[in-house]
Amino acid sequence: MASQPDNESRQPSPEPNPPAEGFAHPAEEEFAAFLDFYRIRYQYEPISFPLRWHPDGRVAEMFTPDFYLPDQDLYVELTTMKQAHVTQKNRKMRRLRERHPDVNIVLIYRKDYHEILSRFGYGSIDISSLREDQIERVLLSQYEIQERVRELGEQISDDYAGESIMLVGVLKGITFFLADLARAITRPLAIDYMQLSRAVDEGVQVDKDLDLDIEGQHVLLVEDIVNTGMTMDFLLERLRERNPASLEVCALLDKAERRLAPVDVKYIGFEIPNEFVVGYGLDYRELYRNLPFVCVLKKDVYENISAG
Ligand code: IMP
Ligand code: MG
Repeated sequence: MASQPDNESRQPSPEPNPPAEGFAHPAEEEFAAFLDFYRIRYQYEPISFPLRWHPDGRVAEMFTPDFYLPDQDLYVELTTMKQAHVTQKNRKMRRLRERHPDVNIVLIYRKDYHEILSRFGYGSIDISSLREDQIERVLLSQYEIQERVRELGEQISDDYAGESIMLVGVLKGITFFLADLARAITRPLAIDYMQLSRAVDEGVQVDKDLDLDIEGQHVLLVEDIVNTGMTMDFLLERLRERNPASLEVCALLDKAERRLAPVDVKYIGFEIPNEFVVGYGLDYRELYRNLPFVCVLKKDVYENISAG
């Protein structure tokens, strides 16, 4: 089994890509800011589609959609509420669909920005209201997470070539990450869970222990987030006692700044700044686990909930 230490993690780096020459219309700039907030990648007017040709072959009419969203393979055309404008745009859209049936495009109004999120996989939650009063900023979009989980799965599959793996997840924050990671790994694997609690003055204790025997197994401990490392340190000691053939750690998020106990995390999804994050399994008082992205909560959410 290859066992090179490999701590190549990712920093979340926003990639807003405004056009060098600026936007043609304030509505476009506003839509771009909306996409940036959700960390949805876009290209501004990347291509023009010919719609009609003169008899001599020259292009008589073109259509340049405002945005292309590469992760969704979707073109977006913005429109104002003016009826004449809408009618003309609709005609162009119809022609585009006739000439280029493989192109996915939507025509949207300003009030529909949030509605189109459902097309991006955010449909299960009403994020528009959360955005206003709870979400400070999106740190990792679901596409960034999915891409990184796929990479981790490949790397783990390579490192464990010819072996089978015992994935150990720590409930409950691990729910979604473990499910996605396990499906990105192409080795035979078993899954087991532990649950811990922190009792006041008593430190960490085990509420639910493993069902399976890990002696002689290649154990990969999967965690949502490592902060001080105290939880991880405690877990690794418990697992090591049971004599696994090997024991490594995979954490989706790493707040390295907060580390007190030195723990060796072989696979790291993202290094993140020292801020409280929720979503993709992580909670604040059991809420927000089902957000499809990882985000920082607004300060007054803490203040309100702790006061109430
Ligand atoms: P540590 O023992 O300080 O490393 O803390 C790790 C545990 O604290 C994780 O397993 C999480 O359950 C929880 N935790 C730490 N930071 C966050 C956060 O930003 N959001 C949600 N849970 C967190
Ligand atoms: Mg946890």
